[in-house]
Amino acid sequence: MTETLPGAAIPNPTDEAAITAAVDQAIAAIAGAGSLDELKAVRLAHTGEKSPLSLANREIGGLPKDQKAVAGKLMGSSRGRVNKALADRTAELEAQNDARILLVETVDVTAAPRRRRAGARHPLSTLQDRVADIFVGMGWEIAEGPEVESEWFNFDALNFKPDHPAREMQDTFFVEPPEAHLVMRTHTSPVQVRSMLERELPIYVLCPGKVFRTDELDATHTPVFHQFEGLAIDKNLSMADLLGTLEHFTRQMFGDEASVRLRPNYFPFTEPSAELDIWHPGAKGGPRWIEWGGCGMVNPNVLRAAGIDPDIYSGFAFGMGIERALMFRNEVGDMRDMIEGDVRFSEHFGMEI
Ligand code: DAH
Repeated sequence: MTETLPGAAIPNPTDEAAITAAVDQAIAAIAGAGSLDELKAVRLAHTGEKSPLSLANREIGGLPKDQKAVAGKLMGSSRGRVNKALADRTAELEAQNDARILLVETVDVTAAPRRRRAGARHPLSTLQDRVADIFVGMGWEIAEGPEVESEWFNFDALNFKPDHPAREMQDTFFVEPPEAHLVMRTHTSPVQVRSMLERELPIYVLCPGKVFRTDELDATHTPVFHQFEGLAIDKNLSMADLLGTLEHFTRQMFGDEASVRLRPNYFPFTEPSAELDIWHPGAKGGPRWIEWGGCGMVNPNVLRAAGIDPDIYSGFAFGMGIERALMFRNEVGDMRDMIEGDVRFSEHFGMEI
C-alpha cells in the first residue's frame, strides 16, 4: 500500500510526468487491493486530503494565470482516472464478495437430512406407571420411602429376628458406618411399615421403587432393580381379598384370560405366606404359569411393630419385581439390555405410557 511520506515533495500540477507517476502509483495500489477494507486505505492514501494528487491540486490556486488552465485540465483528468479505477475496483470486489457469500450460504437441497432420534421413556418406567395406574383405579394411594433405609425398617420391623437366617436371604449392601445401622433397602417392604406409621387406617397403598442387592450383573441379575409392594390394612381382610385383588390386577395387566395361583412359602412379615404365580396367556411358546413374587397376610408382629392392634385390624401384602415382569411380558432375554440406556432398546417399546 502506498502512503505519502511526511515531507515528501508535492508534485507540481504542471509537471505532467510527475502527476502521471502519481496516478500510475495510485492505479497500481488500487489494483493491488485484495479486499474492500484494503481498498479503503488505498483510497485515503491516494485521494485523501494529504495525498500527493490532492496536495498538487491545491497548488493550482497559486499558479500564474496562464498555467492555471493547463494544470487544471491535467489534474482534472488525472483525478478522474484515479476515481474511475477506484469505482471499478470497488464494483469488482463487491461482486467477488457477493459470489463468496452465495457460495458459503448455499443450501444443498439434495443432501440427506440429519434426523435426531426421538427419545422414548424407559420401558421399566412405563411398566411401573401402568401398575400404579391399575391400583390407583381401584382407589389405592401411591406411597414412597427412602432408598437408604434404616435396618429397623428393612428387617426388624418386618419380623426378621436379629440372627434369623431370613436376614441372609437378601444379600444386603450395608452403609457405613455400621453404627448407623443403615442399608440400601433390599426390598420395598419397609415402605409397608412407614405407611402404617404415617397414615390413617384403613390403608390401601402401592409402593413402587428401586431396591438393591449384592448381585453381580448378568443376564438374569442386576444389583439395582425395581419392585412394587402392595399393602392393605382394614377390618376383616382375608386371604380371599388378597386373591381377588391380585386376580383383578393380573387381568388388567395380562388380559382377561390371565389368572393367579398361590403356593405356600415363608416370609417373616406375612403369615400365612405364599408364592405368587400368574397364568400368562400371551407367553412365548404358549400360555404357562410364571413365578412372579410373594404375598401373604401381614404378620401380627408387623402390625404390632407399627402400633396397629391385630385383634381389630388385619392386612394383606404382596411384592413383585418390575424387571421380571418386563422379561416375561415383553420377552426381554437379557437384563443388561434394560440398564445400558441404549435408546434403540427403549424405542422398540414405543411411547406408550
Ligand atoms: N419383600 C419380598 C422380597 O423382596 C417380596 C414379598 C413377599 C413382599 C411377600 C411382600 C410379601 O409384601 O407379602 O423378596
